[in-house]
Amino acid sequence: MSPIRGYVFDAYGTLFDVHSVVEAGREVTSDPATLSATWRQKQLEYTWLRALMGAYVDFWVVTESALRYTIRRLGLSATEDQVRRLMEAYLALACFPEVAAALERLAGRPRAVLSNGAPKMLEAAVTGSGLTGHLEHVISVDRVKTYKPSPRVYALGPETLGIPAGELLFVSSNGWDVAGAKAFGYRVAWCNRTGAPEEELGARADVVVGTLDQLPG
Ligand code: 2OP
Repeated sequence: MSPIRGYVFDAYGTLFDVHSVVEAGREVTSDPATLSATWRQKQLEYTWLRALMGAYVDFWVVTESALRYTIRRLGLSATEDQVRRLMEAYLALACFPEVAAALERLAGRPRAVLSNGAPKMLEAAVTGSGLTGHLEHVISVDRVKTYKPSPRVYALGPETLGIPAGELLFVSSNGWDVAGAKAFGYRVAWCNRTGAPEEELGARADVVVGTLDQLPG
């Protein structure tokens, strides 16, 4: 197998903990974990549906739409100020504890983020978590106006790094994202943070780790 010449990381769920919005959720519910889980699932559903519909809006709009649906779906009520504070929490997601050191350990080869996140969301998350110096590229799907797992999204990795997908290691905690990247042609590491079962999507990761510091150097 050819050596790995660069790394492409998913953002939400992989570098950043989407469930760190739970704290902000306490304002509107006594069960913020259910709010966060329902919100995340609906956010992803909307990306897949909008991509299939050819009705792209950026991830900030999708994330707010999913939040408003979730509040109604759970029978909650929230003021506009509370909705704004929940959305702002998405700009300041906590970075998983091992990420900075894991990225530093991989220095020397290009390290990119490739994410559904809108540019302003990724900029805020990367800057806010102090990862700016540990990444050479931050790539948003907004460049191609569709969402993962579209091949047009995964093509942004080789295009930006100038390295063929087969010589790049794509890293994600989202099993469906792992399958999409593998089907596109990347070498793939699944960071299975939650011990989830493997997806039945016809494409398997090359390696499975529990945290990013276990990635092959
Ligand atoms: C990301 O693209 C899949 O939401 C995840 O960052």
